[in-house]
Amino acid sequence: MKRHLISAGDLSRDDALLILDTAEELARVSERSIKKLPTLRGRTVVNLFFEDSTRTRISFEAAAKRLSADVINFSAKGSSVSKGESLKDTALTLEAMGADAVVIRHGSSGAPHRLANWVHGSVVNAGDGTHEHPTQALLDAFSMRRRLGALDGRRITIVGDVLHSRVARSNVLLLHTLGAEVTLVAPPTLLPVSVDTWPCSVSYDLDGVLPKSDAVMMLRVQKERMNAAYFPSEREYSRRYGLDRDRFAKLPDDAIVMHPGPMNRGMEIAAEVADSPRSTIVEQVANGVTIRMAVLYLLLGGEIA
Ligand code: CP
Repeated sequence: MKRHLISAGDLSRDDALLILDTAEELARVSERSIKKLPTLRGRTVVNLFFEDSTRTRISFEAAAKRLSADVINFSAKGSSVSKGESLKDTALTLEAMGADAVVIRHGSSGAPHRLANWVHGSVVNAGDGTHEHPTQALLDAFSMRRRLGALDGRRITIVGDVLHSRVARSNVLLLHTLGAEVTLVAPPTLLPVSVDTWPCSVSYDLDGVLPKSDAVMMLRVQKERMNAAYFPSEREYSRRYGLDRDRFAKLPDDAIVMHPGPMNRGMEIAAEVADSPRSTIVEQVANGVTIRMAVLYLLLGGEIA
């Protein structure tokens, strides 16, 4: 494994399979009555969150604690960032406290890459702007593999606000590495101009793509990143690109439905679809802890006890 995890595109097929297989082993440990491993005893993991998070922040904390690491949680709100302290000075301050790994979420694309030049420990990208969210892609691939088996040749459809989605980019890169065929479906206004360089296909016809999908991943419409009108109305968006009961019925019987969360229920996904037995949304959250354990374990070089 490399020292940092900044982009899903940095992972070779062997790297990605090693993380998924390690997570599979760690999932077995998590089924024991005593879930904690001594693997990272004496190591310190700093969670550096400049943007809001529920799933990622909590699961990195749970993952580090299950491996017996010491955990320092830093949230920009209430810190000296509000007095103007820079990312570099914040990072160096935390490193002085002995961080072996820094998990960072930041609103600016590229912040984890910059951080990796300033600190000695491993840097893990927990979501940077509209760029990447590699551990989300890993937990998504892990969730798919557990339900569908090996991903080679599997047809994965990713739907919605691709333009603002770091999840979509990381998933396209990782799923391509793992041999899956990815199709993006979105309104033209919600696709990045560079999408034709991504290793995937693009369609505007959700109803045509669904019957050929092994998994459909709905993306959150990121209203907080929208400073213009990207579609006529929420109702119109939902009518064209939402996964409602009628569209869900177009999927093959064994296809799964995914969403990274948080969801806009009733907009990109109907509540009854999100809560159906073929939805992996809750599993994805649980798998997030296991995948993040595997990433920390491999980056910090622990050994499974
Ligand atoms: N999927 C995801 O990154 O969720 P959070 O923003 O809650 O961490």
